[in-house]
Amino acid sequence: MAHIHILYENADWLAPLAETFDARGLPWHGWDMADGAFDISAPPPDGVFFSRMSASAHTRDHRFSTDLTAGVLTWLERHGRYVVNGVRALDLELSKARQYAALEKAGIRTPRTLIVLGRHRLLEAAQQAFGDGPFILKPNRGGKGLGVQLFNSLNGLQAYIESPLYDEPVDGIHLLQQYVKAPEPYIIRAEFIGGRFLYAVRVDTSDGFELCPADACPIGDAFCPVGEEAARPKFEIIPGIDPAQKAAYERLLEAAGIDVAGIEYVLDAEGVAFTYDVNTNTNYNTDAEAKAGISGRATLADFLGGALARLYPPQAAE
Ligand SMILES: Nc1ncnc2c1ncn2[C@@H]1O[C@H](COP(=O)(O)OP(=O)(O)O)[C@@H](O)[C@H]1O
Ligand SMILES: [Mg+2]
Repeated sequence: MAHIHILYENADWLAPLAETFDARGLPWHGWDMADGAFDISAPPPDGVFFSRMSASAHTRDHRFSTDLTAGVLTWLERHGRYVVNGVRALDLELSKARQYAALEKAGIRTPRTLIVLGRHRLLEAAQQAFGDGPFILKPNRGGKGLGVQLFNSLNGLQAYIESPLYDEPVDGIHLLQQYVKAPEPYIIRAEFIGGRFLYAVRVDTSDGFELCPADACPIGDAFCPVGEEAARPKFEIIPGIDPAQKAAYERLLEAAGIDVAGIEYVLDAEGVAFTYDVNTNTNYNTDAEAKAGISGRATLADFLGGALARLYPPQAAE
């Protein structure tokens, strides 16, 4: 019997999706990519495949799961299997430098960015591009905002580089980036399923740069009403985004072979959108979704279930 096969590395992020599949009676298997053995000389099993491999796998001690997944996805694709977020999507997930090239090619503005290999090159590169700041330093292979830092001066960067706190990016590549100052502290993340826009969520960034919308990443009191007046929640679904921007994102996803994504952008004081992150492993915030009466995982389950039914029609009863 054909299944929906989910390639994953973080079991916490799989659980909500698993629940949704089960509730719909969809047959599925989890492929835990933390480790594994695959006979790539034999054909893969029948079914629909969905990769949930994440750029932040190394932060969970799964440094090589991304490489294993690239090999497995290539094998699946060479056998003509239907793969959602295949090897090309993984390629963009793992490199912001490659994301930005794809974004720019689709006519989408990205912040000015330098890629730097070699810690000793950071200061001079930052000075040449951004003077005494401000600028952002972040790893090329990101995830959950880990290691994203705002520097207001070269001195700040120098102190960091020379301190024991310095953390080398997992692929060695640093990004030095224009800081896009938002007049209000929020960013927008536009969610896409099946390559089509689903909704956009406004994320409050006043607590800093680490933003994981997954319910598995606790946000503590950020969601609780304070005093008389209810505080605006950290994650809030908004009515929509600029239609031209939406169309450009859909073009990008089509060109890059990405079916499921959360694309993040920030608006500067003039209202110009700068797109800086394409997440092909997306998590949905259930509180925000419940308020708006929409469900990313239900839509995803329907999308994958629909593909399975189309490609492997249920046998007519005898
Ligand atoms: N160039 C930038 N200007 C302003 N804020 C930024 C910029 N880059 C990142 N940020 C902030 O840092 C957060 C994490 O950065 P991001 O590039 O999305 O890294 P990650 O891939 O780890 O999610 C963003 O959601 C945003 O709030
Ligand atoms: Mg991000």
